[in-house]
Amino acid sequence: MCGIVGYVGPKLATPLLIEGLKRLEYRGYDSAGVAIMNGSGVETVKESGKITRLESLLSATPVVGTTGIAHTRWATHGQPNQVNAHPHVSQDGTIAVVHNGIIENSMVLKQMLEGRGYTFQSDTDTEVLAHLTQEFFEGNLEEAVIQALRMVEGTYGIAVISATDSHKIVAARKGSPLLVGLGDQEYFVASDVSAILAHTRQVVYLDDGDLAVLDRDGYRIIDLDATELQKKVSRVDWDLDQIERGGFPHFMLKEIFEQPDTIENTMRGRLLPDDGTSRLGGLNLTDDELLSFDNIVITACGTSWHSALIGENLIEELTRVPVEVEYASEFRYRNPIVNERTLCIVISQSGETADTLAAMREAKRRGARTLGIVNVVGSTIARESDGGIYLHAGPEIGVASTKAFTSQVTALLLFTLKLGRLRDMSILRGREIIDAMKAIPGQVRDILSRADEIEALAEEFKRASNFLYLGRGYNFPAALEGALKLKEISYIHAEGYPAAEMKHGPIALIDEMMPVVFIAPHDSVFDKITSNVQEVKARKGRVIAITSRDEPALKGKIDYEFRIPETLDLLGSILASVPLQLLAYYIAVKRGANVDQPRNLAKSVTVE
Ligand code: AGP
Ligand code: GLU
Repeated sequence: MCGIVGYVGPKLATPLLIEGLKRLEYRGYDSAGVAIMNGSGVETVKESGKITRLESLLSATPVVGTTGIAHTRWATHGQPNQVNAHPHVSQDGTIAVVHNGIIENSMVLKQMLEGRGYTFQSDTDTEVLAHLTQEFFEGNLEEAVIQALRMVEGTYGIAVISATDSHKIVAARKGSPLLVGLGDQEYFVASDVSAILAHTRQVVYLDDGDLAVLDRDGYRIIDLDATELQKKVSRVDWDLDQIERGGFPHFMLKEIFEQPDTIENTMRGRLLPDDGTSRLGGLNLTDDELLSFDNIVITACGTSWHSALIGENLIEELTRVPVEVEYASEFRYRNPIVNERTLCIVISQSGETADTLAAMREAKRRGARTLGIVNVVGSTIARESDGGIYLHAGPEIGVASTKAFTSQVTALLLFTLKLGRLRDMSILRGREIIDAMKAIPGQVRDILSRADEIEALAEEFKRASNFLYLGRGYNFPAALEGALKLKEISYIHAEGYPAAEMKHGPIALIDEMMPVVFIAPHDSVFDKITSNVQEVKARKGRVIAITSRDEPALKGKIDYEFRIPETLDLLGSILASVPLQLLAYYIAVKRGANVDQPRNLAKSVTVE
């Protein structure tokens, strides 16, 4: 998910690789490393933390050579420490690998390799690739890599070097971006063109299943049957600044558009469709333990608190275990009913939010078991919780959380499937939910392909000074989240409410100046929400409706409409939140606000 750079050519590789890694820093990472052919073999230097720490190591003991690979890691498997940093080296020390992505079957492969005498140094999924390549190596690196990749399930962008071929890099891609840069008798590999743009604008983008073999004399692209492929050479015309955000004007928009992939990554390797359940390796709870809790408390802040509310609905509906959702900041100062028969789920993108961390510690002190639903691997909450589910959504840089939210809901669904099947949820219901979950990435893609419709809507409403967001059931938390997004980045005052609650107060605010966003897909509460729409219309409010089909009941009552695909009620909030993210984004941009770093906000609130 983070950065790869590789170089083969006449120049010294280390400074080029470090410069390339620095170009990738904006992506966020937790450790970095290089492996260089130093004339006698593969030499690896790696360090946790910032690239400057790696640089200090390298300036103390320079590593000299003209072929090398480098990596910035954003941990998915194993703490972000020095041992787990890439490159990873084969048992015999001859092969070094850097990898972005997740090897889903790494546990099985690890057991197999241990049985054949390999010992593992790190907790990463990546290390299996290094040993597997050694296992298959018979003198030709690309052949060994092909054999290794044939055994692997999951996603990867990799670059590999071998001591027996000191001017060669083999790179391969499946689901994780990678490209080859063409210089003058020098060749690069990179996960992102910004890493190499200072040296060349000629690139070959690899597709899934492609493998590139680079040496000083040229490059070849082959497939996993070693058949040579002819690939187009592209010229990159963007400037560096644009490229860092993948061509998007802001990280927030980039992250909104990443959601088909990030939701997929949260589910990756975890769905068991035949059994209608999920596999969650990190819970650290036996099935009996999972069944032993009397109640569940979910604690979080901000956007993560909104996903907690969805989690409450999901868990209570499908498992019948009572769930309480608590603002972390409140939980820690009251006297909550939490004991050793309580499971406390802690949700945090960053894993560092001070209130959430304190709430988790308080729950632990009272004897509860804690599970962290966290994006940042090795963060404090991830480390201190008894178990958890990582989101695998990749670094979220925009201060306004977007992709973490949809992944949090996905992770909560995975947890609910697991607990539900252990209790009395039927296998058929489990399968039905899994089928619907699998369709979600494609449905999000469909919504994103119509972002221009939302942009037009934003133009219409960019001068509003208040907004109301209304939804029922699973879409009430989506309404809260929609309102939070808008106020965070556009500074327009916005409130989220359960649609029917509006008549108990906020209805007083409604007049022709008040835009009201109704989240009204065709779900089990649709009929109820139509009367709330009438109530707003009767008071001349301007109605924007997120619907899922042509609704005769809404004819003449809505001013603007955006269609989302249909799904199960319990998945609806994921789809509904995407147009709301886009609406907030486009309104903020049109008002000239700093979308990625809104005023007064920090990405991670580490103070009370
Ligand atoms: C979301 O857009 C916010 N910036 C904020 O509410 C955030 O969700 C909250 O601070 C919690 O952060 P966490 O998930 O990293 O714990
Ligand atoms: N899954 C690998 C790890 O945890 C790669 C992480 C990355 O993409 O940076 O080491």
